[in-house]
Amino acid sequence: MTVDDLNQRFGIFEQVVFQAGQGGLSKININNQFATAEIYLLGGHVTAYQPHGQAPVLWMSDICQFQVGTPIRGGIPVIWPWFGPHPHDDDKPQHGFVRSMLWQVDNTEALADGQTCIALSLNDDVSTQAIWPHTFSLTLQITVGETLQVSLISTNRGDETLDGLGAALHTYFTVGDVAQIAIEGLTGRDYLSKVESYVRKTQQGAITFGSEVDRIYLDTTDVCLIRDPVLQRTMRVSKEGSQSTVVWNPWIDKAQAMADFPDDGYSGMVCVETTRAANDLYSLAPGQSHTLTQIVSVE
Ligand code: BG6
Repeated sequence: MTVDDLNQRFGIFEQVVFQAGQGGLSKININNQFATAEIYLLGGHVTAYQPHGQAPVLWMSDICQFQVGTPIRGGIPVIWPWFGPHPHDDDKPQHGFVRSMLWQVDNTEALADGQTCIALSLNDDVSTQAIWPHTFSLTLQITVGETLQVSLISTNRGDETLDGLGAALHTYFTVGDVAQIAIEGLTGRDYLSKVESYVRKTQQGAITFGSEVDRIYLDTTDVCLIRDPVLQRTMRVSKEGSQSTVVWNPWIDKAQAMADFPDDGYSGMVCVETTRAANDLYSLAPGQSHTLTQIVSVE
């Protein structure tokens, strides 16, 4: 569908506007009484969320490519049906394949309370079957208001159980200086530290940053608070349908090694990801659905 078609069918006067964005890709601009937001159909990717009067909540790389087949760096990548490397085939893309594909618009709605709701979807087709031979549908429900709520609903449309599914809402947050933030909420939780060959450790106190951090926190449904003394705000990350949380900052060397990541970009971001990872993978029986939800707000 062209941008004109999308506006005719799904546009809402001054609140939901479709435009050609970077790389000529279709994006949705949302503006309501609470906030502005931007969503690319590539990846079903929320690339901006900004409550009025606040600094941007989501961090975006300013050197990433916007092209079908390549993931967007920043915002909220949608990761499915595996998290991290494919469990036994290194030729398959890291973090699944849906973040690099074009999603379709199912619905847009101006809610009576002033929030805006967008529903996107992605179903299996010949190209997904070539990577992962299963029948599925994904729906992404994004509600923009005083909070940003994103729900990924995965449904097994085939006739065999899907086992070992992984997923993430891989959110990149803007921070003033990562070396000065503290993430609260995970004290006492065990985690697997990827940068230390997945050794299992227990979190002591708040999480702080002075080198690369890449951790899967286990058995947690906790709310995380990102305390940011530079931007003088706290971001609150809550979730449903997830019992693992990933915290990631690439620090200096890894930032330099990533082509789509600015060398000094690591200091202005942190990822707190609502995941189904490690011991938190899930199964879907035929016809069964699962909902993974992340809710973000600024205090
Ligand atoms: C995190 C992983 O979720 O994503 C990290 O824990 C990884 O190991 C990071 O480096 C970014 O992954 P990608 O594929 O977007 O570069």
